[in-house]
Amino acid sequence: MITKASWRDLNAILRLEQVCFAKDAWTFLDVAGALIGGDIIRFKATCGDELAGFAAAEIRKAEHAGWIITLGVFPQYRNQGIGSALLQTCEKALLPLKIRLCVSMKNNEAIHLYKNIGYREIGIWPSYYADHCDAIVMEKNEQETIPDAL
Ligand SMILES: CC(C)(COP(=O)(O)OP(=O)(O)OC[C@H]1O[C@@H](n2cnc3c(N)ncnc32)[C@H](O)[C@@H]1OP(=O)(O)O)[C@@H](O)C(=O)NCCC(=O)NCCS
Repeated sequence: MITKASWRDLNAILRLEQVCFAKDAWTFLDVAGALIGGDIIRFKATCGDELAGFAAAEIRKAEHAGWIITLGVFPQYRNQGIGSALLQTCEKALLPLKIRLCVSMKNNEAIHLYKNIGYREIGIWPSYYADHCDAIVMEKNEQETIPDAL
């Protein structure tokens, strides 16, 4: 089940960040900020009482974009469509904004998922991650035919 996340999910999301991102995991303040920030949407996937996954996106109006700032699913819940469902729930909530995200060049699983659901590469951020790996910047724009004034 996918529902809005709240500060009550803070501890479970901190555990998820550690499991998913190790050295790049969000700190307590990062997670707390994502759970209360005004320009941030956040959704969780639950199985029974357990957190299975979490995604958050930041609305950047000047850019006319919503940035997926985190997406993670606990290993035991992967490959069941939860990551895609979280992403697509964020996309719907962000419409009509275009969606952007960045992903480590080494993260084949996530790159595969993003390409599958319509994201395309628009840039590279060199040495973005803690291991100095480059980030691929990706975008999905359902409004491609509408001229972008920005
Ligand atoms: C990337 C990540 C979020 C994907 O989550 P996920 O829940 O496994 O993603 P999905 O299940 O939606 O998609 C993964 C695969 O499962 C398949 N799948 C989707 N629905 C399915 C279903 N109902 N049954 C079986 N398989 C399914 C998808 O098709 C996809 O593979 P395929 O397209 O080659 O077949 C997860 O691997 C993760 O948390 N990784 C660590 C953190 C991370 O890297 N986050 C991204 C940072 S940019």
